[in-house]
Amino acid sequence: MFVTMAVDHLLTSFILLLISNTGFSAEISVFVQTGDSVQLDIQTHELLEFDVLSWTNDKSENIVRFIHASKTEKPHPSYKDRVDFNDENFSLTLKNMQKTDSGLYTARTIGESEKIIVTYRVSVIDAVEAPVLTVKSNWSSDSCLISFTCRSHEFTLSSAFKYGSCSPEEVTSHEIYTLILYCSEESIICNHSNTVSWKEDRINIKRLCEDNERFSIETHHGLSMFGLMFIVFGVVGVIVFSGLVLYCCCKNNKGVKQSDDTDYDDVETLTQKMTGDTWTTIIYCTVGHQTPSSAHDC
Ligand SMILES: *[C@@H]1O[C@H](CO)[C@@H](O)[C@H](O)[C@H]1NC(C)=O
Ligand SMILES: *[C@@H]1O[C@H](CO)[C@@H](O)[C@H](O)[C@H]1NC(C)=O
Ligand SMILES: *[C@@H]1O[C@H](CO)[C@@H](O)[C@H](O)[C@H]1NC(C)=O
Repeated sequence: MFVTMAVDHLLTSFILLLISNTGFSAEISVFVQTGDSVQLDIQTHELLEFDVLSWTNDKSENIVRFIHASKTEKPHPSYKDRVDFNDENFSLTLKNMQKTDSGLYTARTIGESEKIIVTYRVSVIDAVEAPVLTVKSNWSSDSCLISFTCRSHEFTLSSAFKYGSCSPEEVTSHEIYTLILYCSEESIICNHSNTVSWKEDRINIKRLCEDNERFSIETHHGLSMFGLMFIVFGVVGVIVFSGLVLYCCCKNNKGVKQSDDTDYDDVETLTQKMTGDTWTTIIYCTVGHQTPSSAHDC
């Protein structure tokens, strides 16, 4: 019996505590970007009978004082041009918010007693700066592996992405700022955000990898192609050269047998036509056949 009463008492106080918490100290947090407007609602449809409804800031200035009987409102001079008050639902809209406007905004009614209806904690913050994504590229032999860094005012994130398979996203955050680094099929994206805004930087990974691939093929294969062509030309050159030498010597032999002067002329012209080592050929001819006439001619 005594125990049940104690439990009942405990429960009651707990419920009371909850009510007082929601009724008095609960604040609604609102973030506004510098220069933007904010609309503050009273969050209830049932207002008790009241004489005056007011919205105040934490300097206890009455931004608006609404007199129920006359349905007239009086805005504070310092808010005159940038406040809208709706006398049907008692919403307050503040325009062109500046950082100095951050703080508590409270709606209260005054009648037989004073009652706080709602309190907002308004934070006016600047939009985030755009993050900067930098590629510290890396090309491994078999695939496009790109490492990069994303920097914002507060953080730096680094990661590496392999073309065709996205790594899990990297996230870092502090208070109201978050930096996320992730990738889609085509792009690497870095998203810098706070509670009022976000900006991103992205890089087309597909194009980057295709450019990389082309460059790699050009450098690797380009080099071997050059080598191959060098060898082919070399071999062809040697064959042509040997052929000419052979031709020269055969003609020489014939010439000796036939003792025909015109043939010597032919050989001479041929040797002259050949670029470079004319002398080698001549000597070769001489050594090869030891004919006095050819030695003379060569
Ligand atoms: C109150 O009225 C204004 C103007 O019609 C409207 O913009 C605002 O959303 C209303 N607020 C609520 C809580 O309905
Ligand atoms: C990436 O580049 C660094 C140096 O720039 C190198 O040490 C590393 O091995 C490279 N990694 C790959 C996978 O190519
Ligand atoms: C960037 O991050 C913010 C906050 O997380 C999100 O609202 C926004 O949609 C993101 N942008 C992109 C393009 O994913």
